[in-house]
Amino acid sequence: MRERLLLILLFGVTFMFLFGCGSKKPQYQLNLKGYGLESAKTTYAEGEKVTVTFPAEYIGTDTDYSFTADSEDVKISRDYSNKKGYVMKFTMPAHDVTISVSARNSMSFDPTAIDYDDESEDDADTDKGTTSTSVEAEPAEPEPAEPATEEKTLVVVFSATGNTKDVAEKIASLTGADLYEIKPAVEYTTEDLNWNDKNSRTTIEQNDPASRPEIGSDPVDLTGYTRIFIGYPIWWAIEPRIMDTFVENYNFDGITMIPFCTSGSSSLGQSGKNLEKLAGSGNWQAGRRFKGGATENEVSKWLGTLE
Ligand SMILES: Cc1cc2nc3c(=O)[nH]c(=O)nc-3n(C[C@H](O)[C@H](O)[C@H](O)COP(=O)(O)O)c2cc1C
Repeated sequence: MRERLLLILLFGVTFMFLFGCGSKKPQYQLNLKGYGLESAKTTYAEGEKVTVTFPAEYIGTDTDYSFTADSEDVKISRDYSNKKGYVMKFTMPAHDVTISVSARNSMSFDPTAIDYDDESEDDADTDKGTTSTSVEAEPAEPEPAEPATEEKTLVVVFSATGNTKDVAEKIASLTGADLYEIKPAVEYTTEDLNWNDKNSRTTIEQNDPASRPEIGSDPVDLTGYTRIFIGYPIWWAIEPRIMDTFVENYNFDGITMIPFCTSGSSSLGQSGKNLEKLAGSGNWQAGRRFKGGATENEVSKWLGTLE
């Protein structure tokens, strides 16, 4: 009798495990591709509501974002608020889903906004004036010549994996500029650069507006420079904090400052404005973002808009 009872009990437990309390709905993977995309979980059951956010702090100015799923049966609804950023919702299908974000900078560079373009127009006017006086005027006392202000350019760059340095070297060679590299006192290791790790050095630094990583390279003498291209990679939608260390340590009075950056997809965003504010000196221009591996032709075309 006891054996029969035990058998029934064993059968009951096995049945419950297979078809009852022990059964679990199949879970499907949610993959997020792109910086800043977040969701509460990484796996969902079919029919479950999924919410993916792209928080406001990652959103660059003048940038259009599109969020796409890798399969057509995923219909994403999208909301935006200044506080939360973008909030995407959809129902999980019976397969894994990858959501990607891509950014397009809608800010077109406006060469007319640059002061030294205006200066060159002024020069042209002055030239015309000089020509007409030299034809019509009586020989006069020679005017004391204006001391020629020679343009001297410096390219400053911080680059952790070489992409921005590559663009910086192209700018330097195309403009005949000097190059100064910001090297961290403590180099960034591969682990430090892991943006998927909430505790990596870069994640911690970028989350802390007061972080000022120490610079290890010798200081640069800015005497005589009239124009500085200042380059860096985009980290978490802004400039690496070591750039803040740099600009807070120099006086850029009378110097035209032109930021440039490389990134996976983000635009220059607020980074140029942040640096301008922290520097508190210099005549800061709009700047430009390049993708890694930008060609000499792309760099040269951009430089052409500046001259
Ligand atoms: C910690 C970290 C954060 C990053 N954050 C972003 C980002 O927010 N947006 C983006 O488009 N790319 C981001 N990237 C990619 C870099 O901007 C990109 O690879 C850049 O070209 C690297 O430049 P570098 O080789 O000069 O260091 C990040 C890279 C790292 C290491």
